[in-house]
Amino acid sequence: MFSLRSSSRVVSSVGNLTRARGSSMAFVRSKYSLPELDYEFSATEPYISGQINEIHYTKHHQTYVNNLNASIEQAVEAKAKAEVKKLVALQKAINFNGGGYINHCLWWKNLAPVSQGGGQHPDPESNLGKAIAKQYGSVDKLIELTNAKLAGIQGSGWAFIVKNKANGDTVEVITTANQDTVTDPSLTPLIAIDAWEHAYYLQYQNVKADYFKALWNVINWKEAERRFEF
Ligand SMILES: [Fe+2]
Repeated sequence: MFSLRSSSRVVSSVGNLTRARGSSMAFVRSKYSLPELDYEFSATEPYISGQINEIHYTKHHQTYVNNLNASIEQAVEAKAKAEVKKLVALQKAINFNGGGYINHCLWWKNLAPVSQGGGQHPDPESNLGKAIAKQYGSVDKLIELTNAKLAGIQGSGWAFIVKNKANGDTVEVITTANQDTVTDPSLTPLIAIDAWEHAYYLQYQNVKADYFKALWNVINWKEAERRFEF
């Protein structure tokens, strides 16, 4: 189990095998669970409704958690029985539900109510602030690029603002389909944005451009600054 108090643990917790007490060989896998939230469901209103957050968290994210735990249990069993075909078949479920679990953990942590600093741009003196200014000129330009990438997602997917450690710590925007997450070790997700209909439809219906525009009012750039240091 883990809390989302520190999002660095979101990624590092994946594959969380813990050594059983008193045993040098046996391992006990702790199950994944929903992260704790730092705010109430309604705290991101009027930009993201409390109803959306509640359903998103208690239904959608919970389902990814449940299915990830079930998939891993099945994979452990299949591995013990050397059922290779079953292991191969389970990869899709683990990719989808594991990605959904990780992406949503990032999502909740990179939101903040306005009263808790949501929407406040990075400190210009921070390393992230300097990198954005150098590459894009302003945070607004980076947001503009991200929104253009979000608009280009066909079907369901995610946009990520990442730090590319293999490219001189540049700030880049990438998108993924479905629940695919960022697995390249060179890339550190700074901001993850959910472009699935379940993230906005109850409030914005088909006008997802309005959702993409509004959500920046509750983006936790302080968290992005912190992640940039990893
Ligand atoms: Fe979602």
